[in-house]
Amino acid sequence: MANKVTPYEVEGDVDYKKLVKEFGLSIIDENLLNRIKKHTKELHPMLTRGVFFAHRDLKWILDEYEKGNKFFLYTGCGPSGPIHLGHLQAWYFTKWLQDKFNVELWFQFTDDEKFLYKNLSYEEIQKWMYENMLDIIAVGFDPEKTHFIIDTKHASLMYPEAIKVAKKITFSMIKATFGFNDSNNIGSIFFTSVQAVPAFLPSIIKKKKMPCLIPHAVDQDPHFRLTRDILPRLGHYKPASIQCSFLPPLTGRQGKMSSSEASKGILSIDNAKTIANKINKYAFSGGQHTLEEHKKLGGNPDVDVPFQYLRYMFEEDDEKLNQIYNDYKSGKMSTGELKKYTIEKITKFLKEHQKRREKAKKQLDKFIYKG
Ligand code: TRP
Repeated sequence: MANKVTPYEVEGDVDYKKLVKEFGLSIIDENLLNRIKKHTKELHPMLTRGVFFAHRDLKWILDEYEKGNKFFLYTGCGPSGPIHLGHLQAWYFTKWLQDKFNVELWFQFTDDEKFLYKNLSYEEIQKWMYENMLDIIAVGFDPEKTHFIIDTKHASLMYPEAIKVAKKITFSMIKATFGFNDSNNIGSIFFTSVQAVPAFLPSIIKKKKMPCLIPHAVDQDPHFRLTRDILPRLGHYKPASIQCSFLPPLTGRQGKMSSSEASKGILSIDNAKTIANKINKYAFSGGQHTLEEHKKLGGNPDVDVPFQYLRYMFEEDDEKLNQIYNDYKSGKMSTGELKKYTIEKITKFLKEHQKRREKAKKQLDKFIYKG
């Protein structure tokens, strides 16, 4: 099973069990779910369904929280194109964490990273950053408790801290962690030290050591593995994390959703017609070739992309999800019906998101950290 996962490459049918071993992650088990539930009263479906499946030091975050030492959340966005459902998935979960634990969120925009890694001009990146910010505000984060940090705009805040991290990282560590070689540009070699900064910046600003919890997709773990090695040597806590698997692209379980090809992702700004077209045309189906065969043999919801979208984010009702699973597997529910249901769910969700996205234009200024 081909399998390559770094922040800059996700290939093949990702084997999460193997990744947990390779990266040294801990699985979110029943005990931990119960501990979370003590504070949140209910559990998010992304937790009970194992979408957010792994962590580092989450128990410690809860220990500290129970002692009254509140954590802050840190996550981020690399602005290089439109936002797709894979991004939204992790951010809607982050909003749930913010609401349930009533904590601050520090949101990093790595415009430097995308400039260094992508074939885009600085101006194009700035345009995408503006567009992406609207989506992030539309998720519904609390403007009083959410701070946007833009790497190039908040450089006077970020840079003195980034160099302290950078001084502890050698080129050979970067090569080993990210698979880089001598032909990678020197900015990209430095970059991981910038992504480390928001994990302790609030502690610097508030002159108080605060635990940090980072919700992120599992491909970002290499950055934070390095961060965790270095921060204690600078007198900071190691950041904890809660990590999710990838929402599959329309084409099936290989790789992750992306905004660069129509066949790979559904975008936050797609309208009803586009959503229906994409699902009908591209979504990998676990169904049989003909309706007759499907009725006889049943489908495979485990590989069916529309079903997976329902499981990841669009069907909140567990009973209903189970029923769909069983009906599709037995052949009672056809591929056409499953697609239609999923299209309706996604369309409804994105319509609401898009309304809030329009309003976000007026709220933007409130979110940008003023320090
Ligand atoms: N590097 C991430 C990306 O390419 C953006 C990012 C910055 C991030 N800080 C983060 C993602 C913290 C998750 C958590 O999209």
